Amino acid sequence: MPSMSSETAIGAASYDADEFGNDWWLARARDKAHQRAYQAIADAVAEHTTKAKVVIDYACGSGLLLARLAQSLPKTQLIGLDESVGMLDAARAWLGQEVGAEKALQVRLLRTALPDFDLKLPKADAVVFSFPDFRCDLDGKVIKALSKIHPEEWAWSKLASRQIRKQAVQDPDCDDSDDVFDADRLFYERLATRNMRKLVRKGGLLVRVDYALGKRKEWIDAYVGRHDWSLGSWLPDKLTGADRRKARFAEPIKAKYFKSSVIRDVHAQTGSDDCLDGGFIISALKAV
Ligand SMILES: C[S@@+](CC[C@H](N)C(=O)[O-])C[C@H]1O[C@@H](n2cnc3c(N)ncnc32)[C@H](O)[C@@H]1O
Repeated sequence: MPSMSSETAIGAASYDADEFGNDWWLARARDKAHQRAYQAIADAVAEHTTKAKVVIDYACGSGLLLARLAQSLPKTQLIGLDESVGMLDAARAWLGQEVGAEKALQVRLLRTALPDFDLKLPKADAVVFSFPDFRCDLDGKVIKALSKIHPEEWAWSKLASRQIRKQAVQDPDCDDSDDVFDADRLFYERLATRNMRKLVRKGGLLVRVDYALGKRKEWIDAYVGRHDWSLGSWLPDKLTGADRRKARFAEPIKAKYFKSSVIRDVHAQTGSDDCLDGGFIISALKAV
C-alpha cells in the first residue's frame, strides 16, 4: 500500500475528523438524489470506456460510485483511492452490501493523500474524481511544500489566477474577492489533475464531477477559466512556447449538466441561498 509522504499528509484537515467530513457525508450521500447522480456518472464512464481494463476512482469516499461502476463495468479492475480511513472502511462495507462480498473484495481500496505522486499502479483507462471537497492543511504547509516540488505549476497557477481574477473584476455578476480564484487553490486543484493524468494512459479518459449552479454555457468566464485550468484544458495567455504544451493535460470531450438536489450539499456547508438550486456537471476529457 502506498504511504503518504510528509509533504502531502493532511493531518487535522482529514475528512476523518471534520464537521463536514465522514459522518456528515455518510448521512446524506446515500439518498435517492445522490444515487441517481452516481448512476449518471457510471453511465458516462461506461459510455466512453466500454472495454476499460482499469478504472480508478480518485477520492472514492464511501464507495458509492465504485458500487455503480462495479455493476456497469463488471470485467474492469476497479481501484479506489482516498485519504480517509473511515471513508475507506465505509466503502468496503457498502461494496459488500451492494455487489456481494466476492466482487467487493476484487476492488482495491488504497489510502493516499491527494495529490500523491508516488503511487505505483497499473495505467488506468479512466480516472474519475466526483464531488471533490479538497482538503488541505490548515496552515499552508502542504501548499508551501508542494510549491517547492512543483515550481513551474506554482508559477503557472499564479498566472492563471491573475488572468481569471481580471475576468472576474470585469464581470458585474462576479465577486472577484472570492478565494476560489486564489493561486494556492488553483495550484492544489491543478496538482490533483496532474496526478490523475499520471495515473491514466495517454488517450485515456479523465472524468470530473462538480457541483454546478447551472449549465456550463451560463457560467461567467472567470468560473469557466478556473474550472478548465484545474482540469488542464485551458491555459492562461501568458503561458507560451514549450510551457504551453507541457501544461496542457487534457482535451474536453463532453460536459453535461444535471439538475439535482445534490447541490444542497453545498448549501449545507456554505449556508448560501445561491446553492439551493442547481445540480452537477460531468466533464469528460481525453488525456493528451
Ligand atoms: C465529498 S466526498 C466525495 C467522495 C466521492 N468522490 C463521492 O463522490 O462520493 C470528498 C472525498 O474526498 C476525500 N479527500 C478530500 N481531500 C483529500 C485529500 N487531500 N487527499 C485524499 N482524499 C481527500 C475525502 O476523504 C472524501 O472521501
